[in-house]
Amino acid sequence: MTAAKNNAAAKNNAIEKNNSASACSAGLTSVAAATDSVMQNPCKAGLFITFEGVDGTGKSTQTAYLKEYLESLGAECVITREPGGTAPGRQIREILLHSSDDISDRAEALLYAADRAQHVDRVIKPALESGKVVISDRYIDSSLAYQAAGRVMRTDGVKMINEFAVGGTMPNRTYLLDMDYAASKQRLEHEPDRLESAGAEFFERTRKEFLNLAEREPDRFVIIDASQSVESVRNRIREDIGALLCKTSAGIMPAGNLQTNLQAEMSAETSAEKSGKMSGKTSAQSEQK
Ligand code: TYD
Repeated sequence: MTAAKNNAAAKNNAIEKNNSASACSAGLTSVAAATDSVMQNPCKAGLFITFEGVDGTGKSTQTAYLKEYLESLGAECVITREPGGTAPGRQIREILLHSSDDISDRAEALLYAADRAQHVDRVIKPALESGKVVISDRYIDSSLAYQAAGRVMRTDGVKMINEFAVGGTMPNRTYLLDMDYAASKQRLEHEPDRLESAGAEFFERTRKEFLNLAEREPDRFVIIDASQSVESVRNRIREDIGALLCKTSAGIMPAGNLQTNLQAEMSAETSAEKSGKMSGKTSAQSEQK
């Protein structure tokens, strides 16, 4: 195990063990406050879930799995991503990821924030207001990690433009898929884009900041070791979302339906596991069939 991975695992344990810890650092008070207010008023309308982490950790796969799972429980889901969750956002994404022109760090931060503002106003807020579950592959934490820490910019500036961009719309739950540089590089299946080409040190600063953000907001973040199998990550997320939905389902789906569907889902999984064991298969093997 690398030192970074040990560090990540230790932080994860600490966070999972001590969910009541409140270690908001000075700089992040208002983002944290916005999250707190969402957590205190869960599901006044909808539920907002984000996936974060460095590149190559399997966020898009898990986003799709979660959508499938929540729909099987009766929720209406909107799956989206940043950058590029809207038509203008896709043009911004093209500039950000594939432009061969030099883009300054401040311009990069503002472009991500502009994409985010459009995304919040035209996709995320309307969906939440109509009681849907919104699952976004990346959101504000990506800018705090990649632009502020990765690019070594003034954190307060990046925070300020992003607070303006999100206007108080913060996720109820953020899954941080954590992985080290070597493993993440191995997983990338396409040619690296501008950000993915930024190198090992940029990657490490970004990864570390994601972990710091998670440590500051343990009620919102769940850190998951993304080097595990895809099925283990998926199951960890299902376990967590099941518990979260039991607390916050009002407005997304009738509580009675949710309980019934969750119970049916759990007993189906238990019998699948039992039959897998009886025939000497793991649940992952059974699933591949
Ligand atoms: P992503 O869509 O996750 O990449 P891919 O489609 O290749 O899996 O994200 C594109 C890149 O943009 C990624 O390297 C992270 C970066 N990014 C930022 O630097 N800041 C941000 O605020 C966001 C949302 C993404």
